[in-house]
Amino acid sequence: MAEKNPTLNLKDMHDLSVARMLAGNQRFVERIGKEDPEFFRRLEKQQTPHTLWIGCSDSRVSSDVITDTDPGSLFVHRNIANMVVHTDFNVLSAIDYAVNHLNVQHIVVCGHYRCGGVAAAMEASELGLIDNWLRNIKDVYRLHADELEAIADKELRTARLVELNVIEQVYNVCKTFTVQKAWREHGRPFVHGWVYDLKTGLLKDLEVNVSGRGDLEAIYRFDVDKSLGVTQ
Ligand code: CO
Repeated sequence: MAEKNPTLNLKDMHDLSVARMLAGNQRFVERIGKEDPEFFRRLEKQQTPHTLWIGCSDSRVSSDVITDTDPGSLFVHRNIANMVVHTDFNVLSAIDYAVNHLNVQHIVVCGHYRCGGVAAAMEASELGLIDNWLRNIKDVYRLHADELEAIADKELRTARLVELNVIEQVYNVCKTFTVQKAWREHGRPFVHGWVYDLKTGLLKDLEVNVSGRGDLEAIYRFDVDKSLGVTQ
């Protein structure tokens, strides 16, 4: 006898999601095999990405999908709210490896409007462990409190904090010894700040132009001549 109104429980849904991913992988292999038979052989040997992408973990902001970029092009680091925290060995290692071993030309910090991490940082509620991470965003808010608090609409204020947070993280990338050393020795990487709009799918370039030590406040510059504070 056929089951009446079979309901899907959570475990079934979980199994279905996993089964879909594995089936999707089969389709991916078949499609690539037809379109580009050398694809796996080529990428198996080495990766030569041109860009380090630092983005949010949000499932809707998938770096290679939204930039229509092939595997092998982006070296990716993602965390909640695309943060570059100076004590985070994960992001620091990704920057070091991308700059010094993969020789990337570009670093992109990409945030997105309606970022849950940024929105949560603007609230007072206790979320637990993640509050320690979100505090870094609260620090960005504090730096720009005057500008942000002049924006009455909460959604617009959150959107502006998303942008300001990306700009601050671009600067945090540039403050690293790794990037300043690479600028001095190789004249790269170029560091960019972008925001992804979930409504339209478009990327906005915030045009943060930090291309050398001179664009950083003196206190953050590593100076080979040890003349910090003198060369103003
Ligand atoms: Co986000």
